[in-house]
Amino acid sequence: MGIIKLLEDIEPLQSEDFIINKMKNYGFDIQSIDADYDKLGSGFFSKVYKLEDKYALKTNKPLNWYIVKNEAEQYKKLVGKNFDNVVNVKYVNIFNSHKKVIIVMELLKKDEELKQLFSDANVIFQNEKRTVLRAFTRFYHKVYKRKQKLFNEVFKIFKQQILKGHLNDYTYDEDKVLLILQQVHSGMNELRSVGIEPNDIHKNNIMFDPETEQYKIVDFISQ
Ligand SMILES: Nc1ncnc2c1ncn2[C@@H]1O[C@H](COP(=O)(O)OP(=O)(O)O)[C@@H](O)[C@H]1O
Ligand SMILES: [Mg+2]
Repeated sequence: MGIIKLLEDIEPLQSEDFIINKMKNYGFDIQSIDADYDKLGSGFFSKVYKLEDKYALKTNKPLNWYIVKNEAEQYKKLVGKNFDNVVNVKYVNIFNSHKKVIIVMELLKKDEELKQLFSDANVIFQNEKRTVLRAFTRFYHKVYKRKQKLFNEVFKIFKQQILKGHLNDYTYDEDKVLLILQQVHSGMNELRSVGIEPNDIHKNNIMFDPETEQYKIVDFISQ
């Protein structure tokens, strides 16, 4: 039995130590994940590992437990939801006594083109320097959402008003940028539909799902 099957079979009411021991019996030791699995990436508060060539397992660094726990609670809201533009979450467990969380998600891919498109491209929006992705996200919600304009229309205005002065240092494939922004925004709306207000949308938190050929948000809250 694979670890994921085991995790799914675990009753939520069993004690933390019971679950941890059961996992150990299947070769999964939450205390030694670092040594046992390939790292896919890391952020400020967490590390993400590859599990059974199929899943990504996110766990916390030994930092602020309150923040870590709160983030895991948000991921819980995604379990069983098959959103198009938000990572599919399979399992979340919060081990209070060990100050450890594990979040098992589908395995997604980094997209180099996306990273490049949104890497150092900064624009000035509302007197602040912002990356294109963040600037558009703000522009859309603050300025245009109320006016019920179509996404493509908003992008056109964004291009004219915000990108205009920056086009010399920002060369981009317009169709691709539009496609990514559209999918990111659909993901943000999916998150809102389960009560999560995303506030950490940037290039490292958007990944690609080769199966559905969609971009997905993997991380959404900054503390
Ligand atoms: N589902 C996933 N599949 C593959 N890699 C992932 C997945 N989720 C996260 N990663 C990688 O791990 C990095 C850190 O994950 P993230 O959730 O952003 O952590 P943090 O909350 O610390 O920023 C990401 O930037 C990405 O490179
Ligand atoms: Mg992140």
